[in-house]
Amino acid sequence: MEIIIAPNYEAMSKTSAAIIAREIRRKHDLVLGLATGDTPIGTYRELAKLHKDEGLDFSKITTFNLDEYLGLAPLHRNSYNYFMWENLFEHINTSQHRAFVPQGNTVDPEEFCAWYEEQIRKAGGIDLQVLGIGRDGHIGFNEPGSSFASRTRVKGLYEQTIKDNARFFEKEEDVPRFAITMGVGTIMEAKKILLIANGEGKAEVCQQFIEGPVTSQITATALQLHSYAIVVLDEEAASKLKRREYYNWIRDNKHIVQKQIGR
Ligand code: F6R
Repeated sequence: MEIIIAPNYEAMSKTSAAIIAREIRRKHDLVLGLATGDTPIGTYRELAKLHKDEGLDFSKITTFNLDEYLGLAPLHRNSYNYFMWENLFEHINTSQHRAFVPQGNTVDPEEFCAWYEEQIRKAGGIDLQVLGIGRDGHIGFNEPGSSFASRTRVKGLYEQTIKDNARFFEKEEDVPRFAITMGVGTIMEAKKILLIANGEGKAEVCQQFIEGPVTSQITATALQLHSYAIVVLDEEAASKLKRREYYNWIRDNKHIVQKQIGR
């Protein structure tokens, strides 16, 4: 895993947007996996800016969102579909037909999940998957104990997740108890992974998933087994890392290697 520590939320957002933009420029029909939540809002704002100011072209890309609350219709204000349109899709030239978000109000979740997996496969697999991390270590809604081999399915939310996500709803009771989520196995098949995290509240879990043992109790630790995972953190989320000096030294010196191999 490559660990990049940015001084603050703005820098974290700019760095992660630059990584996504670089992949889109390299492959105009990139298949991009997306996350929702507070963390990527700044990154999406930066991407919208790159589209407006520099003409970054999203017209050929396909996107797949990680998850959606079960029971919420796509136009529900708290749905992740709504979030994506409000925070990103409306501000870029994405094609509506290639912006996939799990359908929360599907009548047959099991069939839908198989269909979603099939669409990812048909698109050629995910090139770059963007992730946030929950305070219980979840990626997508893969709560503690989720199998590393899991595929897109319905998952019950952990108590901490319900509490954390209550801030988006009028009251805690309104938070759906289930969600459709890509599995850890689905996420791990992405060719590249970019996880972003910010704030003091994520410091402990970031230390655990980056430097602790691999365990399904913290599903983000699966990323230690991925061949190309980049983690971009702000200073607060990185504050409990034990090897931060080393990560910073690599960040500041990797140009030496890049020069040597002519990249
Ligand atoms: C959202 C998702 C979740 C969030 C995580 C962090 O699509 O997959 O794993 O990334 O819960 O949420 P925030 O960014 O709100 O702290």
